[in-house]
Amino acid sequence: MAYKNIILEKEDSLAILKVNRPQALNALNNETLREIKAAVMEVKDDETVGALIITGAGDKAFVAGADISFMENLSAVEGRDFGLLGQDVFTAVENLEKPVIAAVNGFALGGGCELALASDIRLASQKAVFGQPEVSLGITPGFGGTQRLPRIIGEGRAKELIFSARSIDAQEAYRIGLVNQVYPPESLLEEAKKMARTIMANAPLAVRFSKAAINKGMQTDIDSALAIEADLFGLCFSTQDQKEGMNAFVNKRKPAFICQ
Ligand code: HXC
Repeated sequence: MAYKNIILEKEDSLAILKVNRPQALNALNNETLREIKAAVMEVKDDETVGALIITGAGDKAFVAGADISFMENLSAVEGRDFGLLGQDVFTAVENLEKPVIAAVNGFALGGGCELALASDIRLASQKAVFGQPEVSLGITPGFGGTQRLPRIIGEGRAKELIFSARSIDAQEAYRIGLVNQVYPPESLLEEAKKMARTIMANAPLAVRFSKAAINKGMQTDIDSALAIEADLFGLCFSTQDQKEGMNAFVNKRKPAFICQ
């Protein structure tokens, strides 16, 4: 599919999605959100792709938020629809059955921070800036931020960031567990690719089931979550890759996983 506001590149078995609206620091309008969803579906259906990296085109912004010019004159109904669209797209990112790494290369504000939150792993450039500035614009976070941010960094810290609209740098984001690692700007994408390749060297179905167990388990009570884990753990034993992984260990050789 041809995209206007994003670039979807494929490199070996890796997909790289770049949000690309330089004139608005990669801010998200309806069209861009729909293109992100289409790209996620494309990655989902492409059996040659094992992982997705999301980043921003250019060297200034990951995504500077939802498009404020577009939102300025929305009615309550239109605002809700826009929020629902963003939620749907970011839930598709979160539920993609392949690992998603956000390589946060600059401003990740509002909807940009929320896109990073929907990713599995967040890596940041030293130049990255995170924040949920929505209340300074008279709105709440609306693409999942009020729910995913407290789940990732804890309720107190999430409330402070959301209520104050304060931006934080990459080091502070690292300190509070919002990002997994911080890298110099010039090596961020390469490090993201390296991490994706490390993950892809493992049994793909086991990675997929681990993601499902974590995502589903985080939304429920511990007993139900452990039951989800047990089911998915059991399912692993119906895969070729479990036999291969354990046989390779026993015979002191490298496993060759086939995603079956
Ligand atoms: C529309 C945006 C934009 C945005 C930047 N631009 N962010 N346009 N929506 N979110 C545009 C600017 O208007 C400007 O256009 C161009 O990009 C460059 O931005 P500057 O402000 O000139 O750059 P700079 O001075 O370096 O400041 C960078 C910045 C600032 C600190 C990131 O742009 C900024 O504060 N942006 C808004 C960030 C924000 O509040 N995001 C949250 C949005 S609410 P021109 O035409 O003048 O060159 C949100 C809600 C999500 O995300 C949920 C919705 C349901």
